[in-house]
Amino acid sequence: MTQDIFATRVQSLKASAIREIFKILEAKDVISFAAGAPSPDVFPGKELAAFANELLADNYSGALQYSVTEGYTPLRNAVRERLCRQGSVSEKDNVIIVTGGQQGIDLAAKVLVEDGDGVVVESPSFIGGLNSFRSYNAKLFDVRLKEDGMDLEQLEQILKNNKIKLIYTIPTFQNPSGITASLENRKKLIALANQYDVYILEDNPYGELRFAGENVPTIKSLDTQGRVIYCGSFSKTLSPGLRIGFVSAREDIIDRIVVVKQVNDVHTPILNQMCAYRFMTECDYDAHIKKCAGIFGQKCAVMIEEIERCFPKSVTHTNPQGGLFILCTLPEGSDSKAILQKAIAKGVAFVPGNTFLIDMESPSNILRLNYSASTEDKIREGIRILGDVLHECLD
Ligand SMILES: Cc1ncc(COP(=O)(O)O)c(C=O)c1O
Repeated sequence: MTQDIFATRVQSLKASAIREIFKILEAKDVISFAAGAPSPDVFPGKELAAFANELLADNYSGALQYSVTEGYTPLRNAVRERLCRQGSVSEKDNVIIVTGGQQGIDLAAKVLVEDGDGVVVESPSFIGGLNSFRSYNAKLFDVRLKEDGMDLEQLEQILKNNKIKLIYTIPTFQNPSGITASLENRKKLIALANQYDVYILEDNPYGELRFAGENVPTIKSLDTQGRVIYCGSFSKTLSPGLRIGFVSAREDIIDRIVVVKQVNDVHTPILNQMCAYRFMTECDYDAHIKKCAGIFGQKCAVMIEEIERCFPKSVTHTNPQGGLFILCTLPEGSDSKAILQKAIAKGVAFVPGNTFLIDMESPSNILRLNYSASTEDKIREGIRILGDVLHECLD
């Protein structure tokens, strides 16, 4: 079989290393810090089971029939109302329910990015975003992530010298770094976008999971020109398996996304949307999120304590105030992918940094650790093992 049956735009796509690591882990007894998921302990299984039962027993035609592409209207209204109440988006913006935040990113890319268009991404960034842009033949440019967000001097040089259509950013509890862009950084970013007439895709699936520090306004809330497309998700606050996300943007952008979604999957599964709506409105969603964030914050503290005790001093780490990830930086010249093989052999896994970069082939000295999906005991044990592996490889 020749490879040339495949369209050029998908030939260079690589399977997510994270999904590949999962395959190895399934076969082995390994403590995994590779996941990007909340702990199943916080899934409200009983509540969702009761809603699904009732929905299917009482009025199953609504739950099982085709529905509108924009989303189950009560859920769509509830999401919109919540986003407006939080000040994340404005009353003028429209909302569509999508099949996970991933579909939101992909549909935004599909409606905005033409072959060869310049798209700026953070370095490091989320592989699902990178692969979406790759699949529309975007020309990718990366911008270093600093402690307070994107390096805006580097960004401005790129904007000056290239035709950029879109900036993709995860400003709050970024994946993979856990970094949150400061308000100052966000204001300058939107000012640059206005100056160079560039759109921004603000991806915010983790924003509600804050366990320390003060809330920072979304970039969307600073947008006066309708150039920010805001993407959110129920995956980290309710359940990733439900596959429910949302996009909020200017009406004409949402209208385009609606048409394009019709080609993709017609609409997001309606039963899932109904269950999510009932959970949101009948179960104190805020209290649920607060509980999740509290648990993740505690686990994060345990992981950081163990990292500081067990890792070589040459390894630095981020200090997230929310979300699911810590990013570690090894000394210059280290290759976290090579270290992963040794770590798995000793019983612990993480995601190597090359996964999060435009150039996935070159060695990378960063690695991502997830703290939300493991128990505190497993975090302590896994970080101790990883510490030994790192001492072996780096000392
Ligand atoms: C930054 C970021 N955006 C979007 C997503 C997509 O999540 P989902 O499609 O499950 O909503 C993820 C998932 O890990 C993510 O990390």
